[in-house]
Formats: sequence, structure tokens, C-alpha cells
Amino acid sequence: MYKRLFFGTLLLALTLHSCIDTSEKTAIVINSNQEIVVDSSKIHSEPFRPQFHFTPEKKWMNDPNGMVYHKGVYHLFYQYYPDDIVWGPMHWGHATSTDLIHWNYKKIALFPDAIGLIFSGSAVIDLKNTSGLGTKENPPMIAIFTYHNMKGEKSGRKDFQTQGLAYSLDEGNTWLKYNGNPIIKNSTQKDFRDPKAFWNPETNLWNLVLVAGDHAEFFTSKNLINWQFESEFGEKSGAHGGVWECPDIFKLKVADSKEEKWVLLISINPGATNGGSGTQYFIGEYNGKSFKTDQKDIKWIDHGTDNYAGVTYNNTPDDKRVFIGWMSNWSYARDTPTKNWRSAMTLPRELSLIKTNNDYVLKSTPIEQLKNQLKQEYSHKTIKLQADEKVEINYPNFNQSEIKFIAEAKDLKLVFSNNAKDSLVIEYDSKQKIFSIDRRHSGIVNFEESFGKQIHNTAVPNVGSSTIDYQIIMDWSSIEIFLDGGIYSFTEQIFPSTPYTKLTISSTENQEINAFSINYIKSIWDKN
Ligand code: FRU
Repeated sequence: MYKRLFFGTLLLALTLHSCIDTSEKTAIVINSNQEIVVDSSKIHSEPFRPQFHFTPEKKWMNDPNGMVYHKGVYHLFYQYYPDDIVWGPMHWGHATSTDLIHWNYKKIALFPDAIGLIFSGSAVIDLKNTSGLGTKENPPMIAIFTYHNMKGEKSGRKDFQTQGLAYSLDEGNTWLKYNGNPIIKNSTQKDFRDPKAFWNPETNLWNLVLVAGDHAEFFTSKNLINWQFESEFGEKSGAHGGVWECPDIFKLKVADSKEEKWVLLISINPGATNGGSGTQYFIGEYNGKSFKTDQKDIKWIDHGTDNYAGVTYNNTPDDKRVFIGWMSNWSYARDTPTKNWRSAMTLPRELSLIKTNNDYVLKSTPIEQLKNQLKQEYSHKTIKLQADEKVEINYPNFNQSEIKFIAEAKDLKLVFSNNAKDSLVIEYDSKQKIFSIDRRHSGIVNFEESFGKQIHNTAVPNVGSSTIDYQIIMDWSSIEIFLDGGIYSFTEQIFPSTPYTKLTISSTENQEINAFSINYIKSIWDKN
């Protein structure tokens, strides 16, 4: 690697010539109708295709479903429409991984049937064969999902969403629908969906949470088939700008203490902090039947625009709580400028709970295994900035990289740009303690009205008072930013018309940046 440093001038410039050539993946060809031309034989090297995030091989994907770990394998099911790159009759797609980074595509797991389309839900391993659908020697993998009946919806009925069960006796490869479906019904609430089932060792029962319009409902069961309604939560709590979706509930230890708390995740669309879809959380107590909280404020798991419908894995080893979200937003999910496929998942993130300023905060940190994909390109201990001075870093692969550093808790501005004059601006305003992402000029933004309309501002009162730790991860059409190890995370889609090749760093104050490094992130689809 060849480096050039110019010190002593107002502009400190640093050029990194990477030994990695990703130019073939970058070529965007636009035809006379201003359409992006894609060679459909080039799966995983189309424009904007993420290289280390999960994407469907082709066609439309939304929510992660049925996330369960079993016998060394992480299963990821997902809302899938195999015939188009827009939402359509939902199936469950399926992929597996042993490290949550590299994925194998599997056959479609669940197809729509006479009861309905297959909406979101969860999966468990019925180790004691409580359902009787397998044996103790070969415990069934059980999926509990929402059936959405289109006819019922069109005819104005209120009972068109019910919960169904399917099981697999061969590690998720083939599935049978339970012949007593649906297993949970309701006649009054038209939005009644997204069941998350899990084994509760404290009460020795299966538990399930689902959403019903403006609240969550809790159920218990001995056998995963007969469910008893226990309680509801939320009509008067949290954000209600839209319908509640995709709940999850789990217990976490509070770091550096003996305390444990339950976390309830609720996605909401619209009504999120920066517009459209987003995921809020509540910290409280749960006794296996009902959830209580004295939380007054609204908390968001991510402050960017593109982390929705995220839930966590059942049965992960070492009690790790691993979260994956859908990296999109219903405001524009169907319009993004990709071709063969549409949508990606967030990086898997480990969730943890801390108490800071007498308040509980859910932290999200990219899973450790990502480190195996990194190839260090540049490690420069310190960058000293005079007020209003600019440091320019030229590097050809920002679009597939991790940038890390520790800055003083002072103003900071980062601008990623390219020779097409696209720019993505990230800023921390220390006086107001506001963090912002401005993607208005980040590349292709005009495919939908709201996408490039606003700067996304977030108050970040809990960032460090002397230094702030920045981790920025870009993967062609996404940026994920983690402040102070994920006390705040921001996930956004971006569609630069050519990759960003320059990073300009500046501050209105004298600023010292330490431990600055750039890592290339290897593609998970490259065979070598
Ligand atoms: C969330 C959601 C779920 C539903 C699924 C349908 O994005 O709306 O509530 O089950 O998508 O695809």
C-alpha cells in the first residue's frame, strides 16, 4: 500500500491506494431511458449490491423471520416474494449460516396456502417434543407465523389475520403445515400479527407475544398449539404514530450490576423518530404473563431511517442476544434503485443493556465475527485538526469499509464524496449534543419524495463527555454508524452514483482524533 501525506498545509491530504480492486462491481450503466442496466447473470455484483450483508439471491425481501439457532446453525427465514422485486404474496425464504456472516441460500420454506399468505413470525426448537409433532430424539423445528387472508381483508372482515403453525423434522429443509391451523384467532382486531414464541425457563411454559393494532398481547402454552391469552400492554405507552408490528421480548443483564431487566421491542410504521418505519423499545418487568414498565420516554433501537421489523435469535449459544433488522423503510422500500433483488438485512448486532445517567439504554454492537472479514488498510494513530482545517483522505473502497476512530467530544464533520459530486455528510454538534446524517445529496435520491428530503437529526445526550468512539460501516448501499460502542446506532440506505472515494474531516474547533483506522471488509460472496 502506498501512502502520501502532506503536512504543514491547510489541507492535510492522504491518499490510500488500496490493493483491492472493486471497480468491476461499481460500474453503473444507465440507458437512454435513464434506467440502470443490470446483467442478471452477475448475481452479487450488481450496482448497490451489499457485499457482507445478507440479501436474497434475487427478488423481494422484507422482515427477518424465524431466527433460531440449532445444532451449530443459525437459521434466518425472511418475508419473501419470489416473483418480483416489490412486495407480493408472502412466503418464508430461508438461509443458514454457521457464523452469521456467510450465508447459504436454502429452498423456500413456507408457501401461501388456502388459509392465507405467510406473514412474519418466529421459530423454536421443541426439544421436549411438547407439541407431539416430532420425537424427543428428533425434536421438531416449529414455526409460528401470521396467516393473512386476502379475501377476508377485501371483504372488510376483521378476522383475516390469524396465527398458523408449521413444523420441520429435517432441520428446516422441508416443512409441513399443522392440520389444525389456524392456532390463534381473534375476531375484533384486524391487525393481529407477527408472533414471537420462545421457551420461558422461569415458568416452564412456552410464551408468545404478538401485536394487535395499538398494543401487544401475551400468551402462554404447554404445547405450542393451544395458547392461552394472558394480558396486553401498550395502548397508552410509547409511540403510536402507526400500527405496532413485529414484537420481541427478552431478558438482559444490566452491565456492571446484578440487575436484570426485560426488553420489549415494538416496530411501528409510520411514526418513527426520523420518519416512516422504526423500532422502539421498552425496559421493564415481565413475569411470563404480563409486562410492566415505568418508562415515560420513547426509546428507539436505531436512530437512522433503515432498521425495521428487527427481532432476536432464539437459543443462541452463550446467551448472546443477537438482533437482525430489515434495512429498509416502508416509505420507500418498494422504490429503491436496485434491480435483480431488493433489500438487505442489517448486520447482525449483539444487544446489551447499560445504565447511564440513571436510565437504561439498549446498546447494539456489530457481532464480533465481523472482525474476520476485515483487512486493515490504514492505521494512523492521531489526526490533529486546527479549527476549520480540513483533512482529506482518498481511498477507493470507502463503499466497502469500516472506519474507526476516537474523537474528542467536540464538533466534528465528516463528508464522504466522489467525483460525481455526491456527498454524504455526518456531523456532531457538541453544543447541542445533536448527531446528524445528511443524505440529501448522497447520490440517487429522487426515486421517492421523502428519501432525500431531510437531514436526520438525533439528540445524543448519552455520548461520552470527553471522547466519542465512532465506528462507521459502509456496504455499497448502506451506512451503519455506532457511537460509543452502539449506545446510539444509525442505519441508513444510500445510493451513491459512483463509490465514495474521498473523506473530508473538519471541525469548527481544534480537534484531536485518535486510533483512526480504515479496514476493507471482504465480500462474503468471494470464494477465496
Ligand atoms: C412488517 C410487516 C409485518 C407483516 C409483514 C408482511 O414489515 O408489515 O407486520 O407481518 O411485514 O410482509
